[in-house]
Amino acid sequence: MAEPMIRSHIRFLLNGEEVSLSDVRADETLLDYLRLRCRLVGTKEGCAEGDCGACTVLVGRLAGGDLVYEGVNACIRFLASVDGCHVVTIEHLRGENGALHPVQQALVDYHGSQCGFCTPGFVMSLYALWMRNPRPSDRDIEKALQGNLCRCTGYEPIVKAARAVSASGRLEADFLVRERASVAARLKGLRDGARVEIGAGKGRLVIPADVDDLARVLEAEPQATIVAGSTDVGLWVTKFLRDIAPVVFIGGIEELRSISTVNGAIRIGAGVSYSDAFAVLSEKIPALGSLIERIGGDQVRNMGTIGGNVANGSPIGDTPPPLIALGATLTLRKGHNRRSLPLEDFFIAYGKQDRAPGEFVEAIEVPLPAAGAHFAAYKVTKRRDEDITATLGAFHVLVGADGNVQSARIAYGGMAATPKRAPTVEAVLIGKPWSMQTVEAALPAYEADYKPISDMRASAEYRMLAAKNLLKRFYLETTGTKKPITIRRYEEA
Ligand SMILES: Cc1cc2nc3c(=O)[nH]c(=O)nc-3n(C[C@H](O)[C@H](O)[C@H](O)COP(=O)(O)OP(=O)(O)OC[C@H]3O[C@@H](n4cnc5c(N)ncnc54)[C@H](O)[C@@H]3O)c2cc1C
Ligand code: FES
Ligand code: FES
Repeated sequence: MAEPMIRSHIRFLLNGEEVSLSDVRADETLLDYLRLRCRLVGTKEGCAEGDCGACTVLVGRLAGGDLVYEGVNACIRFLASVDGCHVVTIEHLRGENGALHPVQQALVDYHGSQCGFCTPGFVMSLYALWMRNPRPSDRDIEKALQGNLCRCTGYEPIVKAARAVSASGRLEADFLVRERASVAARLKGLRDGARVEIGAGKGRLVIPADVDDLARVLEAEPQATIVAGSTDVGLWVTKFLRDIAPVVFIGGIEELRSISTVNGAIRIGAGVSYSDAFAVLSEKIPALGSLIERIGGDQVRNMGTIGGNVANGSPIGDTPPPLIALGATLTLRKGHNRRSLPLEDFFIAYGKQDRAPGEFVEAIEVPLPAAGAHFAAYKVTKRRDEDITATLGAFHVLVGADGNVQSARIAYGGMAATPKRAPTVEAVLIGKPWSMQTVEAALPAYEADYKPISDMRASAEYRMLAAKNLLKRFYLETTGTKKPITIRRYEEA
């Protein structure tokens, strides 16, 4: 493997200008850069933890040959991670002679703003939606706004404005749409195949040139913090004021962003975002697709990766339980060496994963459920959208022609110090008729498999009861006794 050339600055487009920066700290957020250094103060800071959406900006990146714009939370996105991208802020929407952008005009027409603090964030989210779907359904609008909070207007006028954007202007006339080809060409011109290395000590950051270079960099600096989408690590900086340097940014590594179906399994590169995974998973394993819609808001889903959700080892990460239930395996890589590990064995104890220094998650392989197998994942939270799991149950059960359970893989989040299977419950089910009587007989086995804790999300008793009830729900849904609960549409609320 030849060493790549080294660049000591990042390069990106900010609105219409090309920016080249060598004074970038590893933990400098995009929001601080925009507000404090560029004085682009239209982008607001509300929560600084990815929840409120006031800081939403668009980031355009080349995906294959295509230029894709996505809303992201500038408050938890690190500046260095926009190397090679196009950052678009609310200031760039100003039309000739100060004319309003169609999204802004619609918000004015439908009284979608009061104090205005949240408004730039809503504008950017609705702009991203409009660009990918000029005639969105109410469900599309609801999903696009999951990551934006408004504390004074109320959502009804904002949703009305969202429905009316296309009446306020033509998408073909929009400047980002018109300039797509020239911006793509400019971004291609920024690609030089170099590794970026900036700073030393507490400010040091590295952006590897490709996945082989990542392996090389991590062997040389095994203590470095790996940052993919930064939807966890961003908060270590903004909320916990932790030193994270040296940092290795992997979010732009193309090889890690690929998702494919090979021999009856889906291979998800560790850098695939939730949004990119959604298109494939919602088609191949619809229950997993629906679950992704319950993770954060669009901005978090555009940044956050399934690789990061697994690697962080959280007991309440949403994807590990369904992936364990499906029998997923991880590919871990250190230097030239790769090893494969069943996902359930990766989680050793709270905060402890089977990952050596200098090793990284390269991909996750998810076998498709066998024909006729039942698979579902249920997330229990206090609030439906943008909330963290109290408990999450994932069920993968195959019932034979004789009506008996042939195989069962059941895993939960929020019930133990790690995402964890339910071996005792599974053992009670296997070989028995798939009936409510069998399900009832399996419920006491939960006490052997799990000892949940009480915390701000739920009491231990609630978690245990909810976990047992999810098995009943799964049984009722698989036998057609009860229809799957569908998401309420906005107008029915
Ligand atoms: C507002 C908000 C809402 C959220 N809602 C949810 C939710 O509903 N459900 C949920 O599960 N999570 C949620 N999260 C948490 C977060 O989005 C996920 O855990 C996400 O998947 C992390 O991925 P990332 O790429 O952002 O990881 P990062 O923050 O970049 O990294 C997370 C951890 O993984 C490590 N890491 C990342 N990639 C690799 C790799 N390839 N190899 C080895 N180590 C690696 C990092 O070093 C770090 O320790 C939310 C976060 C926010 C801010
Ligand atoms: S400031 Fe609230 S999401 Fe960024
Ligand atoms: S208009 Fe005030 S917070 Fe939304």
